[in-house]
Amino acid sequence: MASHSLLVLTLYLLSLSYQFHVIKSDEALIQNLCHKTEEPVLCTDCLHRDPTSKTADGRGIALITVYCAEYDAQLVYNFTFNLWQNTPKSDPMYDTLDTCSIQFLMAHDNFRGATVAIREGNINWRSIAMDQLTSQVSPFVNRCLDLFKKSPKLPLPSQILAGTIAVNQGIAISMGVLKSISDK
Ligand SMILES: *[C@@H]1O[C@H](CO)[C@@H](O)[C@H](O)[C@H]1NC(C)=O
Repeated sequence: MASHSLLVLTLYLLSLSYQFHVIKSDEALIQNLCHKTEEPVLCTDCLHRDPTSKTADGRGIALITVYCAEYDAQLVYNFTFNLWQNTPKSDPMYDTLDTCSIQFLMAHDNFRGATVAIREGNINWRSIAMDQLTSQVSPFVNRCLDLFKKSPKLPLPSQILAGTIAVNQGIAISMGVLKSISDK
């Protein structure tokens, strides 16, 4: 019995030291920054999808998270635009989908203010990026849901709800990373 638990303990310690060994410093930075955000799992998933995150510094990691949110904004825009194109003018959803697709397009395009600021890294890049996300992206992301709330008779497509949530989570992740890195 005693030797059995010793074996279990030894295996446990071995697996721990193995884990420590494979977590290289760059992975540690990803984990460290992502755990300071509201969505640590989504944050690490986003970064692991991009191989350049392996060698990225804080600024590079922030940029990748913004690209993830921007991609999700493009997905929800594409979905909404296609749905609108396939909706007859006589349908009560037509005008709402029209406005929604324009708002999602604006949201998507306005990520550029943040990505340019982070890429160039000029003075105040961090606060510029945060300001862009807060004032130029978020309001457009959420306008479509507001429209549906104002017209409770219209059925909200689940992909628009899920897409809006995804973009908001992505922005929250970027904000969390941007807040916890330095300006250098
Ligand atoms: C959105 O649609 C455009 C044009 O069809 C396409 O190039 C792009 O890859 C799509 N984006 C996503 C995220 O699916």
